[in-house]
Amino acid sequence: MKILVLYYSMTGNVYRMAQLVAEGVREAGADVDIKTVPELMPEEVIEGDEAIRKAKQAQAGVPVAEPEELADYDGIIVGTPTRFGNMASQMSNFWDQTGSLWMEGKLIDKPVGTFCSTASMHGGQETTLVANMLTFIHHGMVIVGMPYSLQELLTTQAGGTPYGPSHVSGYPPTAPITDEEAVICRALGKRVAEVAAKLAS
Ligand SMILES: Cc1cc2nc3c(=O)[nH]c(=O)nc-3n(C[C@H](O)[C@H](O)[C@H](O)COP(=O)(O)O)c2cc1C
Repeated sequence: MKILVLYYSMTGNVYRMAQLVAEGVREAGADVDIKTVPELMPEEVIEGDEAIRKAKQAQAGVPVAEPEELADYDGIIVGTPTRFGNMASQMSNFWDQTGSLWMEGKLIDKPVGTFCSTASMHGGQETTLVANMLTFIHHGMVIVGMPYSLQELLTTQAGGTPYGPSHVSGYPPTAPITDEEAVICRALGKRVAEVAAKLAS
């Protein structure tokens, strides 16, 4: 199985989550690519903010995905920071370019999971994750959530939802990913890879 972890991250939190999700994919014995989406912010905004500049430098080697590539994967996992309770425009812009994939039904029956990061505890994690699913449902994808057999969903004092992994990054957005958040990230990667294998058998 070949799984894509597709993410956008401005200040690095979702990037760190993407790496944890990818670890989970590998635990399931599947191959994984981590890719990002095109940036839409002007270069001077990035250069003018130290936190953004450093986070972008850390991601400099991450390949940028082309929309058509989604069809090549057995499963896709989508990560985004929350923007006003919704996905970031960079990620939305990417999915807005998947019209031909949608017309051709190229993503039908592919398993998909999603994860996000917010600054505040109740700042819209669930709304973001569920809103992301609307796009995936239009594509005919098979939504993979997190079952409550995962004990960390009950014990987390920060992020982690049945709709997908999440992280509370704080303000400024520098809070470390908690142990429970990390376990839930890895669990999503493993689960999407396992569901992909089941769907392919
Ligand atoms: C324009 C904008 C809108 C945001 N909206 C929300 C929000 O609705 N709720 C929230 O808790 N955090 C919000 N945030 C904070 C980010 O979601 C948060 O810092 C996230 O962890 C950043 O992820 P990153 O480090 O991967 O970029 C917003 C940030 C920006 C710049």
